[in-house]
Amino acid sequence: MPDTQGKTIILGVTGGVAAYKAAELARLWIKAGHGVQAVMTDAAMHFIGPATFQALTGRPVLTDLWGATGDGMDHIHASRHAEVIVVAPASADFMSKLAQGRADDLLSTLCLARACPLAIAPAMNREMWANPATQRNLARLRQDGIMIIGPDAGEQACGETGPGRMSEPAAIFDAVETLLGPKPLSGKTVLVTAGPTFEPVDPVRGLTNLSSGKMGYAIAQAAKEAGARVLLVSGPVCLDAPAGIEKISVTTAQEMFATVMHCVNDAQLFISVAAVADYRPAQTATQKIKKTGKPLSLELLPNEDILASVASLPKPPFCIGFAAETENLLDHAEVKRKTKKLPLLVANLAQNVLGRDQAELVLLDDSGNHPLAKADKLTLARQIVSHAIELFNLSKSRQI
Ligand code: CTP
Repeated sequence: MPDTQGKTIILGVTGGVAAYKAAELARLWIKAGHGVQAVMTDAAMHFIGPATFQALTGRPVLTDLWGATGDGMDHIHASRHAEVIVVAPASADFMSKLAQGRADDLLSTLCLARACPLAIAPAMNREMWANPATQRNLARLRQDGIMIIGPDAGEQACGETGPGRMSEPAAIFDAVETLLGPKPLSGKTVLVTAGPTFEPVDPVRGLTNLSSGKMGYAIAQAAKEAGARVLLVSGPVCLDAPAGIEKISVTTAQEMFATVMHCVNDAQLFISVAAVADYRPAQTATQKIKKTGKPLSLELLPNEDILASVASLPKPPFCIGFAAETENLLDHAEVKRKTKKLPLLVANLAQNVLGRDQAELVLLDDSGNHPLAKADKLTLARQIVSHAIELFNLSKSRQI
């Protein structure tokens, strides 16, 4: 039985080589003063013994649906005293069980019976990770509001290299602290734009760019984790909105502009991540343009700058911009920050970021430049949002 005096973190361990890293995670939580209740699947015990977790957490490890209390209710008792359940490593098989809502062992039953947040740190071979079945399960878990931590890419236990390595214990620790931590944006609305826009040339062609939307969606998730109501205005991307986020899909820059202007009065923060097309074709042909073998010119009209328009409203929300540059990063970015009158701008080299899972960024504000080390986009998004919250609070306190 878990400690009934206080809430605990339930550490679920499933079968995978990374199970040994879960011991380090348990140690970090104990060191930080959390109670930890380890729950292991049969497969996990092929990789690491329960005695390790028992010694680290000071509690007997739960392994059996029909175990300790004798009333067959461990799944209810344990989950009612949990502040969060963290499954690390989460195997492909366990993700599939969670996605289907199956409950055929203690850990999966506990997850199904929970009344608390659930986070998982997937770990598996890169082909298992890339398999459409796993990706389908992943999308479902995200939709169900389960926090996904990692995985990292790199050398794997099987000798192959690619995505599927469990995130390092320190990164999982940080992500869970965020989940459990204070909600500084509670009661606030954050408006986020994400993805590219698509400017039609004719019914089958258009002008767009390489933005995948990953950074914008990560920012939306980080703002949600910080307790905000999040409105996400998204250009065409192949991503599902994180759970609990209000997504409005748009196609063109003009649609994005109109939607942002419609929503902006509700927002205290505006984070403009979208790679908005600066120009659109002056005319969109109603039928497919046929080739003639001769040069073809397109007349382009400038689109509104959405961020600059929001920032120059009489009562603008706190505005955060992004700058995608291909050269002279800091100089160009600082000019953009000043021209658009932004308290915070996130600068990146477009060729190192667009469409990728990881990025290296610099934050520019009135106090100077703050480089963020290379990391996955969600980790960076959490850092950006927490920096923005600091500046936002500072700006509020100055207004008082
Ligand atoms: N942006 C916007 N509306 C536009 C163009 C850009 O809201 N029509 C926003 C982007 O979301 C980003 C910031 O402005 O937050 C900077 O975008 P970026 O494409 O880097 O620069 P531009 O302002 O378009 O300038 P340039 O293309 O000349 O670098």
